Amino acid sequence: MEERISIKSLQDLDEFAKKFYKTLSLGDIILFSGPIGAGKTTFAQKIGAYFGTISPITSPTFVYIHTHPLLKMNKKGALLAHIDLYRVTNEHLFHSIGVSEYIGNPHVINIIEWGESFAHFFPYISKKVEFIPVSETERTLVIHTYPTPSP
Ligand SMILES: Nc1ncnc2c1ncn2[C@@H]1O[C@H](COP(=O)(O)OP(=O)(O)OP(=O)(O)O)[C@@H](O)[C@H]1O
Ligand SMILES: [Mg+2]
Repeated sequence: MEERISIKSLQDLDEFAKKFYKTLSLGDIILFSGPIGAGKTTFAQKIGAYFGTISPITSPTFVYIHTHPLLKMNKKGALLAHIDLYRVTNEHLFHSIGVSEYIGNPHVINIIEWGESFAHFFPYISKKVEFIPVSETERTLVIHTYPTPSP
């Protein structure tokens, strides 16, 4: 399934995040693709806010993985893992940063920036969100939803 959404402003992005977060389930592996500054981290922050994360969602570019308890899930151990593989330049590094603890874990919603080149290591992909910059404030989002194995 594919859906295209026209985002005219940060407020539009926020309104879309409010709908989008409700479509996510524990265990999901979600790829965010698009160029630098397209809005991947900004959208992850808005999703986190709707899930009631307390820790601020900052760009994980220098840490690779940030985890946030999913307070509104009301399920012990439920986490949002925000993963940024931009600086992960080879497979050896990919396997050493601890992503396997989160990717495919049924208690975790994974949002992964710059994950395309490692996608063959993921057990499945639930959704892919393509961020296409249109102007400084406008974006087109293309949401691909794939059939996921039942947990
Ligand atoms: N409609 C919009 N949607 C998303 N971001 C927007 C929009 N309008 C303006 N922006 C701004 O664009 C910037 C997007 O930066 P962000 O860090 O989210 O990009 P990114 O895709 O995560 O980049 P990187 O690949 O470097 O991690 C932010 O400063 C944000 O405020
Ligand atoms: Mg980012």
